[in-house]
Amino acid sequence: LYVFDQQLIQSMKVQSTTTQQDGRFLISDYDYKSTNIEKNGDKYIAKPQITSFKFKTDTRIPKVGVMLVGWGGNNGTTLTGGILANKFNITWNSKGGTHQPNFYGSLTQSSVIKIGTCNTEEVFVPFKDVLPMVNPCDIVFGGWDISSMNLADAMSRAQVVEYDLQQKLRPYLEKLVPLPSIYYPDFIAANQGDRADNVIPGDNKLEHLNIIRKNIADFKQQNNLDKVILLWTANTERFCVEDPNIHGTAERLLQSIESSHPEISASTIFACAACLEGCSFINGSPQNTIVPGVIELAEKAGVFVAGDDFKTGQTKFKTCLVEYLVGAGIKPKAIISYNHLGNNDGKNLSQESCFKSKERSKKTCVDDILESNKVLYPTEEELNIDHTIVIKYCPETGDSKKAMDEYIAEIFLGGRQTFAVYNVCEDSLLAAPLIMDLLLLCELFERIQFSKDASEYQRFDTVLSWLSYLMKAPKSESGITTINSLSRQRAMLENLVKVCAGLTIDDNLRLEVRYG
Ligand code: NAI
Repeated sequence: LYVFDQQLIQSMKVQSTTTQQDGRFLISDYDYKSTNIEKNGDKYIAKPQITSFKFKTDTRIPKVGVMLVGWGGNNGTTLTGGILANKFNITWNSKGGTHQPNFYGSLTQSSVIKIGTCNTEEVFVPFKDVLPMVNPCDIVFGGWDISSMNLADAMSRAQVVEYDLQQKLRPYLEKLVPLPSIYYPDFIAANQGDRADNVIPGDNKLEHLNIIRKNIADFKQQNNLDKVILLWTANTERFCVEDPNIHGTAERLLQSIESSHPEISASTIFACAACLEGCSFINGSPQNTIVPGVIELAEKAGVFVAGDDFKTGQTKFKTCLVEYLVGAGIKPKAIISYNHLGNNDGKNLSQESCFKSKERSKKTCVDDILESNKVLYPTEEELNIDHTIVIKYCPETGDSKKAMDEYIAEIFLGGRQTFAVYNVCEDSLLAAPLIMDLLLLCELFERIQFSKDASEYQRFDTVLSWLSYLMKAPKSESGITTINSLSRQRAMLENLVKVCAGLTIDDNLRLEVRYG
């Protein structure tokens, strides 16, 4: 089933003594340069060191299936329709003329990486061409929704995609109907009840788990897939009341499912089902789906979990702006974020319990950036800046979310600098390409192993924090500090694929053009 795409590898060939192709594996040696810091009284002793790593990438491209929870929502329909438009090169007309499909907003498909210098010119290639990656147009989509609408009608309901494109996609989408899903009304807003006409009956959570597991196994078999990835893009749930006795280990979690414990959410059942079926699971909403028991299940199954909450517009900008200010030695003192939106996500967030989940993930996104600078923030108290999040549901706005942020910062000699940022965009047109990146990168990372000092190869940690660039509140392996800075998150991803391909990481000194 695996397809080895020579074309992709040949679009850029690395000639180096530290990189070899061993059958289907691309193996690269990498000398990791880091600095070990020791504290001596109030002084730091810095000891630079070099550690030898090997990265081994399986270059076979698998046939991948993706199951979306919340397939009939704005993100689910936009992603599925957008990929089909690209796959079949469907053009559409608006009063502005004829439009071609593209993958704008996708890191892997539409951004580039500098691979080196040709004479004095820097050379860039698309991110997707550095390592063999799945073509998004080859992904088989499936999934669940508590609403029974087929994807063509659901796309019309979403009001995201242009009317003419909706019409052209209709023949493809009307055949796609979400599977019935698990619905625990207590976890999402009461106002969602009127669309819940596609629900697995009963309240036995173990039976629910088993049905979802069977759905995954059937989907994999019927579509002849090498692997399946699950992604939650359903409504934001309230946080479950986390308790080590209920969620703390794989065994306790499965017991709690067996006893249909009320604090087991639908999203956690999906995460468990994914792990038990050997599939990685990505949480695109802010709630605490990935409880410790899920991580243990994933670890045992050798799959990844990643979360939480897609980082699309406002938060991406926030992590950039705050990084710029703090990096410039300017002290942010207040961030006030207003949003109003009129899509179903906004409707769901109008219930306080669901809003609280969102507020939490939106609020933590600058913490580490502030904490890093002890010149600006010498005390805990000063770190406690005014960071306010307001979200209002305004149906007239549709999916065209408005985000208004005010940043107030302290500058030289007690002066003030205030930024007022107004961001308008179709929320799902930002989220869909980002979801695609999450899936493609998660799949790629399942094919990468690494080893230190010639010891045995190992996979990346179960909690895939490499994907943090795409997540509002990135989940990290225990003991590893979360990084929210967008430029550091992107550099991390770019450097990883370069290292795996045997390319040199760029330190931006550009000595090759400065010397001589
Ligand atoms: P949406 O409300 O249009 O879609 C959610 C879908 O999930 C609906 O079709 C609903 O019927 C379905 N659903 C609810 N509970 C379900 C369950 N238990 N099982 C299966 N389906 C279920 O929302 P949208 O705009 O597509 O967003 C999806 C999620 O992504 C939300 O949680 C949102 O907060 C999150 N998100 C969205 C971003 C964006 O830019 N669009 C950014 C960050 C996060």
